[in-house]
Amino acid sequence: MEQIVISGTGVFTPEESITNKELVESYNKYAEQYNSKNKKDIDLGKKAALDLSNEEFIFNASGIKNRYVMDKKGILDPEIMHPILDKRSDDQPSILAEMSVKAAKQALDKSGKTSNDIDAVITACSNLERAYPAISIEVQELLGIKGFAFDMNVACSSATFAIQAAADMIRSGSAKTILIVDPEICSGHLDFKDRDCHFIFGDVCTAMILERKDTAKSENCFEILSTKCITQFSNNIRNNFGFLNNAKKSSPLDRDLLFMQQGRKVFKEVVPMVSKLITDHLDEENIQTKEIKRLWLHQANKSMNDLIGKKVLGRTPEKHEQPNILQDYANTSSAGSIIAFSKFSDDMNKNEIGVLCSFGAGYSAGSIILKKTS
Ligand code: COA
Repeated sequence: MEQIVISGTGVFTPEESITNKELVESYNKYAEQYNSKNKKDIDLGKKAALDLSNEEFIFNASGIKNRYVMDKKGILDPEIMHPILDKRSDDQPSILAEMSVKAAKQALDKSGKTSNDIDAVITACSNLERAYPAISIEVQELLGIKGFAFDMNVACSSATFAIQAAADMIRSGSAKTILIVDPEICSGHLDFKDRDCHFIFGDVCTAMILERKDTAKSENCFEILSTKCITQFSNNIRNNFGFLNNAKKSSPLDRDLLFMQQGRKVFKEVVPMVSKLITDHLDEENIQTKEIKRLWLHQANKSMNDLIGKKVLGRTPEKHEQPNILQDYANTSSAGSIIAFSKFSDDMNKNEIGVLCSFGAGYSAGSIILKKTS
């Protein structure tokens, strides 16, 4: 079978960031204002008072300390509590396409390729800015890439599912060198007025170049030894935003048009699902766990990753074996495991093996076994 490699990665990190302290201060201001505005109804038992958020809870429950965002001011303003991104005219590049181009340029540089070498673009992410034209076709245009492009969404597993799709496409001959971009403006789908989840997400964009091993120029390639993707329907992570909203009796302010989750249930159900996926995948490929040098896991929750790492390796992973970027970036949906891979893979030696794994809404989970080629 044709050998396919990831020959370059890129990470576009927004300039602005928000610490837990800043986020909690803003939320608590909002909650105090809400409670004082609604004091009468709260005293009469007609409305529930909002409890305050707290930094210690956030770090202990999730491992998150900080998140990068596309707009800090709007999110932290207790009167607004969402990012404010200027509306652009149809002649201007969309925000997702612009982030994608920045990450893509880094990935192209690292792989030693130019736009002329790319013949397909996949935008794989949780939240697309518009229905059509596809963001990937815009990225293709902005980078001057020939060939074809399409968008896909499998929520937090979008990037790993895209790796599988791209590797299969290269093997079958429908494309030679593929650019995958994962632009995630998760702050746009997050309810910053909801204490249970206001701390979870951040914004970022990652990019990858996939090609045949024999065309790769980079010294820093990872061969895709095998991919395994699974899905299992669950309502525990859900976002009802969609084009039929206008046809229903709903408004953009409805709570269920933003991210919602049953965090505890997700934790309990996804940890065994993902541990089994990786273990089964390694078994099927006759790879022993002692051969695994690194786990680049989805970045949603540190305790979740600690548990999955322990189940897969049969012991507590060393810090360098299972790098987390969650403390700095928070949950960046499909991009999280790719950031970890991009930032913590250069030091690996030839023939060392690692597993890149995403998991999230759907449920969906993707396991990619990678081997350093030089
Ligand atoms: N500050 C202070 N207390 C808070 C709080 C906050 N910001 N948010 C919630 N709490 C309270 C809750 O009200 C609850 O209080 P109670 O015990 O009196 O009912 C308590 O803290 C525990 O809340 P819970 O939601 O059960 O916390 P948790 O330990 O499950 O952590 C998550 C919450 C979201 C961090 C965790 O469940 C998680 O990460 N789950 C997996 C999520 C995931 O992977 N999702 C994928 C998304 S793509």
